[in-house]
Amino acid sequence: MLFFSCNSSETPQLGKVSIDKVIKAMTLEEKVQLMIGTGMAGFTGDNPVVGETHSLVPGAAGTTHPIPRLNIPAIVLADGPAGLRINPTRNDDSQTYYCTAFPVGTLLASTWNIEMVENVGKAMGNEVLEYGVDVLLAPALNIHRNPLCGRNFEYYSEDPFISGKIAAAMVRGVQSNGVGTSIKHFAANNQETNRMGNDVRATPRALREIYLKGFEIAVKEANPWTVMSSYNFINGIYASESNELLTNILRDEWEFKGTVMTDWFGGKNPPAQVHAGNDLLMPGTPQQGEAIIAAVNNGSLSMEDIDRNVKRILELILASPRFKGYQFSNQPDLKAHAETTRQSAAEGMVLLKNENALPLPAQIQKVATFGITSYDFISGGTGSGDVNKAYNVSLREGLINAGYLINNELINLYENYINAENEKNKPDPNNPLSMFMPKIRPVEMIPAAPVLKKMANETDIALLTIGRTSGEFMDRKISDDFDLSDNEHKLIQEVCNAYHAVGKKVIVILNTGGVIETASWKDIPDAILLAWQAGQEGGNTVADILKGAVNPSGKLTMTFPLYYMDAASSANFPYDYQFDIQTAFSSFENQGEVKKELVRNVDYTNYEEDIYVGYRYFDSFNMDVSYPFGYGLSYTQFSYENASVSFKNNAWIFDCLIKNTGNIAGKEAVQLYIAAPGQSMNKAAKELKAFAKTKFLQPGESQTVQLIVPQEDLASFDGKNSQWIVESGDYSGQIGSSSRDIRQNIRFNLPKEVVVKKTHNVLTLKETISIIQ
Ligand code: BGC
Repeated sequence: MLFFSCNSSETPQLGKVSIDKVIKAMTLEEKVQLMIGTGMAGFTGDNPVVGETHSLVPGAAGTTHPIPRLNIPAIVLADGPAGLRINPTRNDDSQTYYCTAFPVGTLLASTWNIEMVENVGKAMGNEVLEYGVDVLLAPALNIHRNPLCGRNFEYYSEDPFISGKIAAAMVRGVQSNGVGTSIKHFAANNQETNRMGNDVRATPRALREIYLKGFEIAVKEANPWTVMSSYNFINGIYASESNELLTNILRDEWEFKGTVMTDWFGGKNPPAQVHAGNDLLMPGTPQQGEAIIAAVNNGSLSMEDIDRNVKRILELILASPRFKGYQFSNQPDLKAHAETTRQSAAEGMVLLKNENALPLPAQIQKVATFGITSYDFISGGTGSGDVNKAYNVSLREGLINAGYLINNELINLYENYINAENEKNKPDPNNPLSMFMPKIRPVEMIPAAPVLKKMANETDIALLTIGRTSGEFMDRKISDDFDLSDNEHKLIQEVCNAYHAVGKKVIVILNTGGVIETASWKDIPDAILLAWQAGQEGGNTVADILKGAVNPSGKLTMTFPLYYMDAASSANFPYDYQFDIQTAFSSFENQGEVKKELVRNVDYTNYEEDIYVGYRYFDSFNMDVSYPFGYGLSYTQFSYENASVSFKNNAWIFDCLIKNTGNIAGKEAVQLYIAAPGQSMNKAAKELKAFAKTKFLQPGESQTVQLIVPQEDLASFDGKNSQWIVESGDYSGQIGSSSRDIRQNIRFNLPKEVVVKKTHNVLTLKETISIIQ
């Protein structure tokens, strides 16, 4: 117990007296100042704070107001999910402030390795600490509801269970440094089109089971210091103004004790945000402050609400390194972190196809690299998920580092073409929106037939890279984005024709942040490696896998459908919306504007697929897919044997012996799906309920993997009675290598229905939508 003393004649000082005493000493203006960030100039939040001539950490997204007379310092908040985003250089300062670009969220989740992700978090959090930042605005864990969401690369999966587990690992890793995280964007921020004005219309069941579940897991398992509310409406109410979301669910039901902040400029009614329990408004505008003061003065907002939020902000500040006076070095160990990023990337890349092509045999020395992305390898997405890194290892550099000889003629051909195209499409450096705009990439080039023939004769193998990038404000498109362009199709076909004609192989490398169409062309090349956007060491990591220095063990955390329209959400997604960045950006000013006619999928989106997101849909409705959820090849094989189940301490415990039956050492991501009886309500055919990554198993070596499912995790949400229930009846535990490759099936029975938890009857639909049953 701490005892505080304070001489009544002195002004209470934060840290010396209780928080309540500090709050008592604050004027209304000071309280309101604390609840609102210092603003945002030039698309970074690095306004100088009071009493300073420069910002605390240039390029950080936001800063809180200091109140020196009460010993309240400013704290600094900065993005993001793939690493810290701050300015790499500063005026009148010769030092550089580069950060490590780690792999994007989707790749990290594809490792299925909790320990690995926690290690990445530790390294990321160390840069946060050593560059003087207090809270990292990450991890981001919205559900991949649709393959075209522009920010899927920042997120983890179409499945809430793995999203929550990976997010919890990331939070633990980052926060182990004594800095905070902000899990975002709470909740159901699943499209970028009109993201500040879109109303998500979904059943409480879909919200609870799919869109909130990952956040619930992360909150309960890892205690993030903060939660960032999302831009969108949920059933008619802005997330940041929703007392039901932020107080009834987040705080009452999940017992979240930290601070909630808005997404940047999110919501439109500051008093409603304060009342809902959205403590901090970021990046903060003077108008927000005026609105709050006016609401207090006219009695529509209570001082209790203000004091409650101020208290939570002060608790956050008390925990921060800046309050504790941490002397940051501005010199994190970038070398060590580069090694961490390289290793984690290697474990999250997914081998989709391999017909005796990989690992490359030792006699393969001369490599031809096709595809413009081979020369401009993409390390991550754009917008706030981007990182200012010191370098980016291209595929070419990675291959050279690994000892391969790259064909120079092809290099010259591509580089001349790319330079000329880039010159035509230069981004305007004076346009502040340019950081949010994906670079215009040159149209894919197809080398002439004689060149292809020559390459096929002179080199031992062809690598062909297909790249995609996306980011905030805009969703992806079907044509030339989800689908390959005509030139990309032709390039794959023609390179394969030329190489196969002389008995040589072609490997396609997908350098994408999300799902693309693969069904129409995957039969043509000999191998396909999904390299994702792997951070600044991407080229080295790909070379590690091609060479066999690393045996791939990543698996998909989302389904690759045959066609875009196959995804259950596609009919209710703005796939044909004509995007224009200026209009999208003006949504900052126009949000909340009353429109005469609401445009479907833009102003509102009906979540008609309900709980059937991703494999829950494809597997329940027996749809063919190109690559299923959980899929990924290895250079070795694993057998699954002797599965058993027992019930202990209110949890189902599954054991399974995994044996490396091949010739190369490797790891396996083992998945446990549960099929529920589905008598009292409709259920997905199966749901992921546990997973584990084996250790590095030598050929012939085996390991018993334990997969634990607490009884309450079997529950589904009964929307009629607002409760989580575990049905009675016959269940099966399906242990497999992917959602469509189940190796062991164990049945168990639950004699009686169990009501796990009664909940608030909140977030109910206000409009009628017709959901899939
Ligand atoms: C993004 C957030 C980000 C914030 C601050 C917003 O545009 O949606 O994810 O943390 O900006 O940069």
